[in-house]
Amino acid sequence: MEKYVIEGGKALKGEVHISGAKNAAVAILPAVLLADEPCIVENLPDISDVSLLLKSMTTLGAKVEMLDVNTAKIDPTGIKSYIVTKDMSSGMRASSYFLGALLGRFNKAKVAPPGGCDFGVRPIDQHIKGFEAMGAKVSCENDMVVCRAEQLMGNYVYLDMVSVGATINIMLAAAKAKGMTVIENAAREPHIVDLANFLNSMGANIMGAGTNVIKIRGVEKLHGVTYSIIPDQIEAGTYLVAAVATGGDVTITNVTPKHLESIVAKLIEAGATVEQFDEAVRIKMERRPRRCQVKTMPHPGFPTDMQPQMTTMLTIAEGESTVYESVWDNRFRYIDELKKMGADVNVEGKRAIINGKDSLTPAVVNATDLRAGAAMVIAGLMAPGKTVVQNIEYIDRGYENLVEKFEKLGGVIHRVSE
Ligand code: EPZ
Repeated sequence: MEKYVIEGGKALKGEVHISGAKNAAVAILPAVLLADEPCIVENLPDISDVSLLLKSMTTLGAKVEMLDVNTAKIDPTGIKSYIVTKDMSSGMRASSYFLGALLGRFNKAKVAPPGGCDFGVRPIDQHIKGFEAMGAKVSCENDMVVCRAEQLMGNYVYLDMVSVGATINIMLAAAKAKGMTVIENAAREPHIVDLANFLNSMGANIMGAGTNVIKIRGVEKLHGVTYSIIPDQIEAGTYLVAAVATGGDVTITNVTPKHLESIVAKLIEAGATVEQFDEAVRIKMERRPRRCQVKTMPHPGFPTDMQPQMTTMLTIAEGESTVYESVWDNRFRYIDELKKMGADVNVEGKRAIINGKDSLTPAVVNATDLRAGAAMVIAGLMAPGKTVVQNIEYIDRGYENLVEKFEKLGGVIHRVSE
């Protein structure tokens, strides 16, 4: 087991390069299974979720060659299997995208139920509703989700709630289905647009991605492409919050500033000064953070995946802040860890009420999931003294070179074996 040992209390300063987006990569890789020729995917983040997906694709029969650490050449033409077992998916949430991709390719798919971070119930009823509307029969056999169709047919699908995963899965299944599929109340996250751009560059016909109505006219073939994944909105936001929380001055590069608007707006409210460039954002904090009210929402609202990091920053804000989590039922499990560091936070249902303190105190804490883990690293960097973050395998799932990147900003953080 490994852990991070952090010597906190120093303002972060300097420049950090943001990697490709995890949540785009985990959709685009399964989408490669729909191609009739090899594809090259660039700007893949070097994280464990990506390597696990590539491994699963190899087990399915794809040929994967890493051209460099962030570029994979994938030839899916030899794939014969439509089965993704629990061992292959390693409990990853994104393994559910194999359902849409394999159904789109073979008209059948058998996939172990997706796991992922534990924030309460994580159903896939809206994914299934979409597949069924397109003519698939969906059942559960020996603990596997099984989808079968004679021929997938385009149809109208209204999502009962905005779901990133259901939107992606239906797009994957519909790309080669017969006729037109319309997704109403679709998710609008940047990674949905990136997936649509990837599929369209292979010859798909997808309109409206980035709005709440997506229209997909099925095509017969998808050719090979070379495609570069968008920058990671959440990784970028994590470094912005870390800069503000430590009273730093940080420039993040290789970003799309438009994707960061809701995060930057809150950090300006908290007292930060922000300069935006074409592909970079500089953030500077020269005061104690002001109190803020935050409510997580689907894009373009404040992202739930930034909630733990933002809450952590607010533990040292002036006065009382509130954070309302409207996407997930139970995403405040990490608060008990923050309390070990002296944070004054009360959770009432989906709301956290934070009474800002002058500073956090170092402690031994656990990463309870990926973003909560990033929040614990930020907390460690804020607290003067030595903080230890355990269970860091969660953080490895989604942050490339985290230690190197924080060290470059002057943070003192070491990865050590227990
Ligand atoms: C994606 O999860 C992300 N994961 C999550 O990021 C992110 O928190 C979430 O979207 C919301 O932005 C990936 O992209 C791999 P949803 P997903 O379907 O697709 C309910 C991270 O840290 N719902 O948009 O699983 C659901 O319970 C991860 O990078 C249903 O009820 O999220 C939730 O309350 C963690 N039925 C809400 O909708 C369904 O069929 C949104 O879930 C589907 C979802």
